Amino acid sequence: MNCASWIEHFTRNKQNRPEPDWAALINVPPAVLKPMLRSVEQFRLGDGGGPASLIAYNAESFRSRTAEMRKIVDLWFAEEAEHARLLGCAVKRFGGRIITSHWSFMAFCFCRRVLGVKFELQVLTLTELVSTAYYRLLRNHSPDGPLAAMCELILRDESGHVAFQRDRLAAAGCPRPELRGLLWRIQFLLLGYAAGTMLWINHAPCLKAIGGSRGEFYSGVTRQLMRFVRSLRRVPKTAGVPALWAKPANLQLERAN
Ligand SMILES: [Fe+2]
Ligand SMILES: [Fe+2]
Repeated sequence: MNCASWIEHFTRNKQNRPEPDWAALINVPPAVLKPMLRSVEQFRLGDGGGPASLIAYNAESFRSRTAEMRKIVDLWFAEEAEHARLLGCAVKRFGGRIITSHWSFMAFCFCRRVLGVKFELQVLTLTELVSTAYYRLLRNHSPDGPLAAMCELILRDESGHVAFQRDRLAAAGCPRPELRGLLWRIQFLLLGYAAGTMLWINHAPCLKAIGGSRGEFYSGVTRQLMRFVRSLRRVPKTAGVPALWAKPANLQLERAN
């Protein structure tokens, strides 16, 4: 795995990040604003608003593999913390509150802690894939310009995170050939749909209120999961940052996917 190219990617991705115009006039009907705010409040907690680091009991075994990997993990989680900041600005804009705990987030952190870093990395990868489906829906249907601009920034980062996870897994020889690989893919997809369903249960009122649908959400989840699993076959072990992510950071990056 080409760690240097990932450090370069994360460093370059800090540039050219236009801040959404949080002071712009709000023109969202109350019936839409209420569920949307609730959803954004929860997402702020889940997307970098909690512990912005690996928290598995054995996380250090992954972080300390090399000095470069430690740096990459720090840069990755710095972007997650930035997502929480952006979502916090949206919460403030709509007059919401910063929540610090929720049952689904506590369950999420508990699983990450006790099941080990390998499982935690898989859970985070799946979360990034299903969150991408959520942010795309929110961006495409957003009744608020600054909120859509925020989604665009987060999607740009998440596309890099997903590519990093793919590179990391491929470098570790995953998925293995034949039956073990098939079983790995099946468990990955099942857990992915479970993560997507958790997200849908919590955020459906918002996504429906802005004009999204269950079918649209699940087809987004399917697209993300299948593309990720298929792409693992094609990544050479020393891939580094794919050409798409090696381009200068710009807001069209995610749309290009
Ligand atoms: Fe994030
Ligand atoms: Fe992420």
